[in-house]
Amino acid sequence: MKTITFDWSACGIPEAQIQTLLKQTEPEFARIQKAATTGYEDARASLNLAQDKIMLHNVRAMVAEKKRLKPNALLHIGIGGSNLGVIAIQEALLGRVLPKGMHILYADTVDSPSTSRIAAALEARLRRGEKIIIHLVSKSGSTTESIANFAFYVRLLKRYDKHYQSSIVITSDDDSKLTEYAHKQGYSCLSIPGKVGGRYSALSPVGLFPLGLLGIRIDELLAGAAHMRNLCLKSLDNPAARSAIFQHAQDMQGKVISDLFLFSSDLESLGKWYRQMLAESIGKEHDTSGKKVNVGITPTVSIGSTDLHSIGQLFLGGPKDEITTFVHVLKQKPAISIPKDTALEQLVPHATGKNMQVIMDAIYGGVMIAFKQHERPYVQVHLPEISAHVLGQFMQWKMIEIMYLGALFNVNPYDQPNVEAYKTETKKILAQG
Ligand code: PA5
Repeated sequence: MKTITFDWSACGIPEAQIQTLLKQTEPEFARIQKAATTGYEDARASLNLAQDKIMLHNVRAMVAEKKRLKPNALLHIGIGGSNLGVIAIQEALLGRVLPKGMHILYADTVDSPSTSRIAAALEARLRRGEKIIIHLVSKSGSTTESIANFAFYVRLLKRYDKHYQSSIVITSDDDSKLTEYAHKQGYSCLSIPGKVGGRYSALSPVGLFPLGLLGIRIDELLAGAAHMRNLCLKSLDNPAARSAIFQHAQDMQGKVISDLFLFSSDLESLGKWYRQMLAESIGKEHDTSGKKVNVGITPTVSIGSTDLHSIGQLFLGGPKDEITTFVHVLKQKPAISIPKDTALEQLVPHATGKNMQVIMDAIYGGVMIAFKQHERPYVQVHLPEISAHVLGQFMQWKMIEIMYLGALFNVNPYDQPNVEAYKTETKKILAQG
């Protein structure tokens, strides 16, 4: 099995101190272990998705049912935790532009220019008699953007598809009003289990249904997540606890920015998925006792080598308020060789006649040395390859890391009360006409 490996040697915290801090994570380690035995009743419920065979069976049955309609495009409607994980996995495994097979489009915000472009693309397909599946995801069932988008696109579907109900799948909480509505309309439903919260739901039907429809090995995603889950449950000294300790201890030293620097363009949306995980889970006004604390780590996302030419100068020369988690892919596919060109070699020696990965690895190695020379703390995460299994490992690692971070900052990493404030105020403004 190909597994992620970690290198903590440049994290800026001596190993003896890491061992002491690990002991302090014991209570959360115990809570995580307990949650792993209690199904979906604990807020850490996302831990248990990886081994839920019934959920996988239900999703596969829905994928098979909708495939029988022979669709060639899928519109995924949802925002925040309801779509970031899907985009992350799709782009990592299939790239941003799908060359062939099923197409997927996303509707998250209510932005007129992009909505009209998506609608035009869908309408062209519908006019040609093609089938389109709409997947609406909302855990609460009450997010303004998602419901508004759904109303808009269902009207479009109805115009061309007499049997449009069979082309709609709604994924929500079993007890939401949206699920009740979906049943009444005769739409297919999938459920987001119990206390699995929005941003922890990528490995639930939220992500598994659309990704399964795209032909991605969802069983492999879950197998990867199960591997990481078991690794983190086995020992107090595990990669999720270490990563949380790294970020928390450095934040206490004034390093309030945490950059996820991914050396693969296809992983940019994975970075954005994690940006939400860290920002929404740890950025809190109050701690668990209700005391006003205004804590948080500011997550940023960078892509190597592209962003070395934009953000690199700041990270190496600017204020020492930032830490980095580098993600390096050991084997990028396909292998691409650059032809030897002696004239171009005069401009940049050694830049031609090599495999592209050799150049990327040299740049990556150079960055590691430069960060060390400039005393910028970092952790290295080596992905053996980009596959469903490895992505499952990565996402489960980060979800468990956030659980530890919640405990270290003494905040609730499962709610987002200040986001709810904007949602409530928006509804009041809309009610005024
Ligand atoms: O993590 C969360 O809970 C949020 O980011 C939600 O996913 C987001 O606000 C969308 O909410 P819902 O799925 O209820 O429409």
